[in-house]
Amino acid sequence: MAHESERRRTFAIISHPDAGKTTLTEKLLLYGGAIHAAGSVKSRKSSRAAVSDWMALEKQRGISVTSSVLQFEWEGLRFNLLDTPGHNDFSEDTYRTLTAADCAIMIVDAAKGIEPQTKKLFRVCAMRGIPIVTFINKLDRPARESLDLLTQAEEVLGIASCPFTWPIGSGDLFQGVFDRRNNSVYRFDRETGRDRGAKQTAVETTGIEDAQLDEMLGEEAVTNLRDEIELLDGAGEEWDEARFLAGQLTPVFFGSALNNFGVERFLSYFKTLCPEPGQRSAGETKVQPKDDRFSAFIFKIQANMDPSHRDRIAFARICSGKFEGGMRVHHFRLGKEVRLNRGEQFFAQARETVTEAYAGDIIGLYDPGIFRIGDSLSTKGPLSFDEVPRFSPEHFGRLQLLDPLKRKQLQKGIDQLAEEGTVQVFRQPGREKDPICGVVGKLQFDVLCFRIEHEYGAKIAFDLLPYSAARWVDGVSSAQDLTDRYVPLAVLDRDDRPVALFRDSWEVDRAKMDNEDLAFHDTAPIRAADA
Ligand code: G4P
Repeated sequence: MAHESERRRTFAIISHPDAGKTTLTEKLLLYGGAIHAAGSVKSRKSSRAAVSDWMALEKQRGISVTSSVLQFEWEGLRFNLLDTPGHNDFSEDTYRTLTAADCAIMIVDAAKGIEPQTKKLFRVCAMRGIPIVTFINKLDRPARESLDLLTQAEEVLGIASCPFTWPIGSGDLFQGVFDRRNNSVYRFDRETGRDRGAKQTAVETTGIEDAQLDEMLGEEAVTNLRDEIELLDGAGEEWDEARFLAGQLTPVFFGSALNNFGVERFLSYFKTLCPEPGQRSAGETKVQPKDDRFSAFIFKIQANMDPSHRDRIAFARICSGKFEGGMRVHHFRLGKEVRLNRGEQFFAQARETVTEAYAGDIIGLYDPGIFRIGDSLSTKGPLSFDEVPRFSPEHFGRLQLLDPLKRKQLQKGIDQLAEEGTVQVFRQPGREKDPICGVVGKLQFDVLCFRIEHEYGAKIAFDLLPYSAARWVDGVSSAQDLTDRYVPLAVLDRDDRPVALFRDSWEVDRAKMDNEDLAFHDTAPIRAADA
């Protein structure tokens, strides 16, 4: 068992849309031998089947709405890649997925630098202090100065960086990367680049001053390279594994995923960098992956992945012990024992039944309606894992039921989707019949309309509201009390906590100034039931 959990590497990729997440994922899977043809992971813009192409809406829109888990074996290690939707409009469950990962790869487009969605996802990783490995992509195109990119990461994200490889030029002048750890140059060849078999051959040097480099790279490129490496060696961050594991320092790699350049280098370092499953906190209890007690938490619930079966799957991250089909576990929130019949693991559109799985693995459990996001399961007595809080939605809409006879169905659907993490539901006192829905990405409103109509038979629409931020308020007794403080809109969340909605950050600052006795939080406190 210890051996099994030691060889698990569970990670996620965070990036802004179009930075190259799908392309890099595909290349990683190719190296891992998990897929055999490029293009099987997606493509959004073509009609080829996407791996996480589960929902009708995904097919209709041609985007990836759900998060899925991909597995591949590489050099004796079992990688579990948690796929987070890369589309601009993503949902709360993208955040949740990150709670199940032990490490994250951050992809940055070399021409664009750190973009908004990366920033948001980074914040979740930072909250948990999980290690981040950075891949700066698209060096075959004109890029921003590499040093500027590192400075930006430091300023915008607050993370220090330590480049393991360094690019030699970019765009038409891109010649490859210099590996600072083994003093080798890996040359970029535009012609053979896209061929998966093309291993970049290393040209070993004695160091940056090696005369070979002058001949190989040309005067201008070599002078730039020497200047930059000298600067990094002199004033840059030194590699410090402890800081990396604490999420304070990120190793940085440069390459071009599309051209398959730098990917193998990256993966071979990543293999040693990505930590095996670690300790997780459940209040006072520290759970170790090698404990013989089985424990897991639910981070995502997905209904109707297979429309012909209408089933509901709860994704669980195993934190310790061994999962066995048919086992009985303690369900902390319900305070009782439940039987886990069998698990599912997912690859592409195929599902496989698993009868055993270990710490670090993700399993899909059939859910007869007993699981919620954040639920903890364990053998040998109750246990409740610490959760990450809920984040403020960014778009709000008042829900309208177009067929008043379907109120019951609507209620069921909304409850379900709120549990899945697709939507947060707020109640405005006095207008209980028209709940307010908050989502992270605007597209989720379309997802909601579509799913409530197709899965629950109720036609709905949304009146978009002008708010863009929710703040959970400490220090007031009720929504009325909050209304009296002149916040733009006072509502209650599902757990009856007072929440203020604001149009912009200026309004939030104003409310803070006017109400110094109150505390405004941009994340929801953890549910009492789980605390
Ligand atoms: P995403 O999942 O992060 O949204 O990004 P995706 O991999 O889909 O990549 C976005 C676009 O960037 C794609 O082009 C892809 O081919 C391109 N791309 C990815 N890596 C590189 C790279 O290293 N160099 C260059 N030059 N381009 C790269 P597209 O035209 O939008 O789509 P497609 O027609 O290629 O699928």
